[in-house]
Amino acid sequence: MDSPFEILGVEPDADDAEVDRAYRRRVIEVHPDQGGSAAEFNRVRTAYEQIKAGYSPESTNGEVAANAPESTRVAEDADSEPEADEEEEEEGSRVEYLNYEVLDDHGWDLGDEDLFEKAAEADLAHEDFGVFLAHPNETLLEAAENRGFAWPYACRGGACANCAVAVVEGEMDTPGDHILPSTMLDQDIRLSCMGGPVSDDIKVIFNVKHLPGLDELRLPPYPFEQAHMND
Ligand code: FES
Repeated sequence: MDSPFEILGVEPDADDAEVDRAYRRRVIEVHPDQGGSAAEFNRVRTAYEQIKAGYSPESTNGEVAANAPESTRVAEDADSEPEADEEEEEEGSRVEYLNYEVLDDHGWDLGDEDLFEKAAEADLAHEDFGVFLAHPNETLLEAAENRGFAWPYACRGGACANCAVAVVEGEMDTPGDHILPSTMLDQDIRLSCMGGPVSDDIKVIFNVKHLPGLDELRLPPYPFEQAHMND
């Protein structure tokens, strides 16, 4: 069986930056949306998580460890059946969202404390401002898509910044936000393809991929731009 390093195509002594670059490359190659498969995608992501968790070739005979890190939300195969208790779960988090693109149009700033109050009075389009319920088994991106929205993304694997959101109020978990610089995490920037809300209420600005510090992490965001081109 291939080691995590072989799966990513890096040497065992590769540094963090090399591992991150290899992961970004591999996750695009094997993503189901790009002609890969869910199994291959999960294998690459598990390898990346193992290396980031300190995987050692000596301790596991060079094979992918049986005690691989618990899969993050995005690891769940879209075709797999939910657990019985998930099916019964009806609770969720109330997500209030605002599109970063409308801030400029109105002369608003990401740091404005009354941003959502101003948005509520601005008669914005439903795709730019509103509320939906995120279920506990959904990432924020999945929740938005399952409610009919076309939020930006590219890799769906924590390897770019296309899906980044700014959490203004409430909390999101960060199961695979390794690619984000600590300065971004400190500003409550999160990857919506990797994490979901963990508070009852959350306010997020989506589509913040053009923020300084995120631009260089982005990958071609074909689905979102195509969705808008087809409007
Ligand atoms: S879509 Fe690439 S990190 Fe979320």
